[in-house]
Amino acid sequence: MLRSAEQAGKAGIEQKRNPAQIQPEDFFRQSDALRSTFGDLIGCVNGDDVAIIPSVSYGLMNAIKNVPPSSGDHIIVVADEFPSGQFAALRWCDNHHKKLVIVKPDEKNNRAESWNKKIISAIDENTAMVLMSSIHWADGTKFDLKTIGEKCQQTDTYFIVDGSQSVGALPLHVHDFNIDALVCAAYKWLFGPYSIGMAYYGNKFLEGTPIEESWMNREHAEDFSNLTNYSERYKSGAARYNVGETSNFIHTPIALAGLKQILDWGVENIQNYCHQLTQLLVEQLRENGYMIEEDHYRCAHLFGLRLPSHMNMNDVLAALKNNNIIVSARGNSIRISPHVYNTKDDIDKLAEVLL
Ligand SMILES: Cc1ncc(COP(=O)(O)O)c(C=O)c1O
Repeated sequence: MLRSAEQAGKAGIEQKRNPAQIQPEDFFRQSDALRSTFGDLIGCVNGDDVAIIPSVSYGLMNAIKNVPPSSGDHIIVVADEFPSGQFAALRWCDNHHKKLVIVKPDEKNNRAESWNKKIISAIDENTAMVLMSSIHWADGTKFDLKTIGEKCQQTDTYFIVDGSQSVGALPLHVHDFNIDALVCAAYKWLFGPYSIGMAYYGNKFLEGTPIEESWMNREHAEDFSNLTNYSERYKSGAARYNVGETSNFIHTPIALAGLKQILDWGVENIQNYCHQLTQLLVEQLRENGYMIEEDHYRCAHLFGLRLPSHMNMNDVLAALKNNNIIVSARGNSIRISPHVYNTKDDIDKLAEVLL
């Protein structure tokens, strides 16, 4: 986490020591700033379409709760989707007696390219929604969100995306990809704290029903002296989906500081930096028998290595750990996730262990 974010969080804690200083307008000011700053990152005109959520599972449930059963007879997910997405999709299928269609890659035949084609051709008029991560969370395989979004639009299919593993490190604009809902945890590539995230809910959701009924999400909630003049109307835009107690005075400034820094660096620059840092290593690894997805279909900030057959996963993980190199083992691949805090020296050390 950034030092600037840490300072912002400490200031939030200090402010809570004397809550009398907190004015009614403060309950909305910072969270609205966070909503609009996230909007800037994902190409929204303003923050109206953004809600603050505590987790991806929460943000996804807000979305799927508002997908009517009449929209189709199945949901499409990709193989080995992150559990928060998989379980949300299963919930909708169970509730409405619909099918879950899991699109799997063909490991031997242009894996990522053919997988993308399979996803696109699986979408038809009977597909209620496609619910997927923006990149594969385990190994950074890139999905062709543009073409998937176009197909969803042609077939009137909801397109619901979990952006937690790429938003902030890889450019994504919701309107370019026809995304109906984009849900992101803040604690990964957005440099935020745990237990806060942001979600975009597009036009299809703006008349929906949230999973909880927070007083803060109603019209005139700012008028603290008049709250029992119960308003029947939600605030406009996606504010109805804000989690209760949205104005978390500690988490919000931390998340905001993270987003501002990312916007300042530029998401494309972050991705390019990670690419420059690792490109040579990737080529060397491939020459040495490691399987890494072809460049067009993998991210530079997060990518998986599959080991050559003579190497043992546990031995490699132990060697990395002994050298104080932090990676994740996900499925049958080792996940490497560099960022701007990494330098060429770090990558050289990684190369020494792996090559
Ligand atoms: C793709 C993806 N989505 C979501 C999450 C976190 O989910 P939640 O916020 O529901 O705990 C993770 C965590 O690793 C993830 O990789």
